[in-house]
Amino acid sequence: MTDPRSPLPGRVVVTGATGKLGRAVVAHLRAVGVDVLAVDRAAGRDPRDVEGEFLLADLTDYGQVLAALTGTVDEHAGRIDAVVHLAAVPAPGLQPNATTFTNNSAATYHVFAAARAAGIKRVVWASSETVLGLPFDTPPPYAPVDEEYPPRPETTYALNKALEEEMARHFCRWDPELVMVGLRFSNVMDVEDYARFPSFDADAHLRRWNLWGYIDARDGAQAVERALSYDRPGAEVFIIANADTVMSRPSAELMAEVYPDVEVRGELRGHETLLGIGKARRLLGYAPRHSWRDHVDPTAG
Ligand SMILES: NC(=O)c1ccc[n+]([C@@H]2O[C@H](COP(=O)([O-])OP(=O)(O)OC[C@H]3O[C@@H](n4cnc5c(N)ncnc54)[C@H](O)[C@@H]3O)[C@@H](O)[C@H]2O)c1
Repeated sequence: MTDPRSPLPGRVVVTGATGKLGRAVVAHLRAVGVDVLAVDRAAGRDPRDVEGEFLLADLTDYGQVLAALTGTVDEHAGRIDAVVHLAAVPAPGLQPNATTFTNNSAATYHVFAAARAAGIKRVVWASSETVLGLPFDTPPPYAPVDEEYPPRPETTYALNKALEEEMARHFCRWDPELVMVGLRFSNVMDVEDYARFPSFDADAHLRRWNLWGYIDARDGAQAVERALSYDRPGAEVFIIANADTVMSRPSAELMAEVYPDVEVRGELRGHETLLGIGKARRLLGYAPRHSWRDHVDPTAG
């Protein structure tokens, strides 16, 4: 099989740039030499968030999105080669459903449509693990879960992410050169979050809602970099999680206790993730480098 990856685009808009994942993505892309125009409607609590080129814009206003992606923010803005769209209300329950839906769907449609208007052929955006059926009150069809079964949104937030994936398929149908990569991120974690991980162990049901998965923001950023060099036209989605779970107990034991009737496919080794990342490894070359186990003592709970 030929390598579907090509060199990174030169100048990239990153939306949601001052958010939890956005901060890591902007720092990572700048570190590997990408010229990033960071975009968010909030300047962020930490002044370091807005170091470098930053545009304050609300993505629910199409005019602002169009200016950002066509490189016409001002007289010196420069042509945009790709977009990484992370801006969203990032979970169910943070804002009323209708607000989440209206904000997230408008922002994403505007980004997709403005990219098309600007002739941008590479779009990477944040989908979510939630489309896999979280909180798994209905058990997963098998484990580890993968991208092979249709979305099962159980919340309005997830419904919108599923609709975004469908929208991407049609944008790609309209433009056979377009590459759109949806990253179904697991629960995003910074290093500071790891201190509470050992406490999860006492109750296997506490984190069953996402099959005990997580994504280190730095590995999330790596996935974005990989996705930006993915070069195969069409819309693809990938689960992006770390290689292990949040638990000290082996994954096979967790499945046996909580989902005894769910088919386990293949041999589960140790703390292997139940959010399958095989497709991302194969097609993107994604290789998670971090684990919470490198930062705290797993037995400290
Ligand atoms: N946090 C998670 O566990 C998680 C899991 C899966 C997927 N995701 C997705 O990853 C992406 C990033 O999530 P995060 O954890 O960094 O969230 P976050 O809330 O930390 O960051 C999101 C950013 O988007 C910005 N934003 C929202 N609406 C906007 C708009 N209309 N115009 C401009 N900016 C807007 C916010 O100001 C914020 O800075 C989101 O799309 C989210 O749905 C997050």
